[in-house]
Formats: sequence, structure tokens, C-alpha cells
Amino acid sequence: MSFNRNIKIAPSILAADFANFGAECEAIEAQGADWVHVDVMDGHFVPNISFGPTTCAAIRPHIKGVMDVHLMIAPVDPYIDAFANAGADVITAHVEAGPHIHRTLQAIRGAGAKAGVALNPGTPAESVAHLLDLTDLICVMTVNPGFGGQKFIDMTDKIKTLRAMIGDRPVHIEIDGGVDAKTAPLVAAAGADVLVAGSAVFKGGSAKNPGPYGDNIRAIRAAAEGTYV
Ligand code: DX5
Ligand code: ZN
Repeated sequence: MSFNRNIKIAPSILAADFANFGAECEAIEAQGADWVHVDVMDGHFVPNISFGPTTCAAIRPHIKGVMDVHLMIAPVDPYIDAFANAGADVITAHVEAGPHIHRTLQAIRGAGAKAGVALNPGTPAESVAHLLDLTDLICVMTVNPGFGGQKFIDMTDKIKTLRAMIGDRPVHIEIDGGVDAKTAPLVAAAGADVLVAGSAVFKGGSAKNPGPYGDNIRAIRAAAEGTYV
């Protein structure tokens, strides 16, 4: 994984056909996805349950590029090795998931993955001020985590603050929740480079009819890149 700030579209397979993850991952990559975003939910940190490390390991061979695992679980630390062994390239933990996010980020890097830290909408940018050299990605949630298909919450000011705090450090800013061709320009202009999108990518298509996935990915990318001057 080499670092750059180009726009990267990361479809969330939370919006894919759960009976068909392998083919869905192959379809979105063939249609232009840069990363594959994998949402892990425990029914405790968030009010929904998705899947765990066994599913991540099963889909890994179907992903050529970056497998971006977003852990919406608490506690995190007992499961880091399982997700690293499942082949996650990026493992993101929430700053709200426990009292020791600093230790968690060290442990993720220690397990050989890139370390991400996610912030719920109610959590300020300053909560990661002392983590900037320990993290490879800051995920700004633009919905309250737990479900796909929710309405975008504007976090533009937080994104700008984080972009300034990051400075020259090789830290991605990822946006997760309600990203589509309308909201992508706002977050890209504020400094985001990784755009997670679930419903906006998977709408209208399927693994057997993947053309709409490509149309949707291209529309989001064009909208985001249009903000460059
Ligand atoms: C929310 C998840 C998101 C979500 C995005 O808890 O972390 O990744 O699936 O879905 P959309 O793009 O539909 O808001
Ligand atoms: Zn996510």
C-alpha cells in the first residue's frame, strides 16, 4: 500500500448480497473500486450484527486490492490478531470503543496492518490529536454507525480541522456514511481522500449485472474529483 491523496472509492459490502460476497467483491473491483470496505458489527458497540473474522478470511482471496476492515466492536484488542490473520490491510478501531485507543493502534501496527481510527459524529477532531503519529487513517463517520443507507451528517468542519492537524503526515482521511455523488464533493473539498459508499455503489446492480456498480463508482469519483482546482 503506497500512500497518496488521490480520491479512492471504497464500496462497503454491507450493501452487497450477503450470500454472494466473493462474487460481489470481484464485481466491484472489476468495475473500478479502489478499496473494499468491510463493516464488522458486534451488536454491542453498535445496534447491529454483521459478521466477523471468519467471513473476512473467506472473502480475502476474492479481493486483489486493499481490504479495509472497519471494526464497530468493543472490546477491540482481543480480536486484532484474528482480523490481521484474515488478511486485513487496514484495521480501523473507534476512538469511543474503549479507554486505550493508543494501545489498540500500537497493537494493530504490531500485527502488521495499517492502523485506522474512527470518530463518531459526536466526537471532536481533537480526540485524535495525540494519535497522529500512530495512525495511517482517520475515519470520519458521517452517520451514526450501525446501518447502511442513512442520511449524511455534515462533518465538513471536522474534516478540515483534521486535514490541518495531519499536515504532511501520510495519514488518509476516510469518510463513511451517506456518501454519494451529491455529498462526495463536500468531503473531498474539505480534505478527504477515501470515500466509503455502500448504497450509492450497489444500487441498481448485482454480481451478474455489475454495470451499474461501475456507473455509480464513476459518478462518485467524478463528483469528488470535480472539486479540485
Ligand atoms: C455504517 C458503516 C458504513 C455504511 C455505509 O455503520 O460503517 O460503512 O455501510 O453505507 P452507506 O454508504 O449506505 O451510508
Ligand atoms: Zn464502515
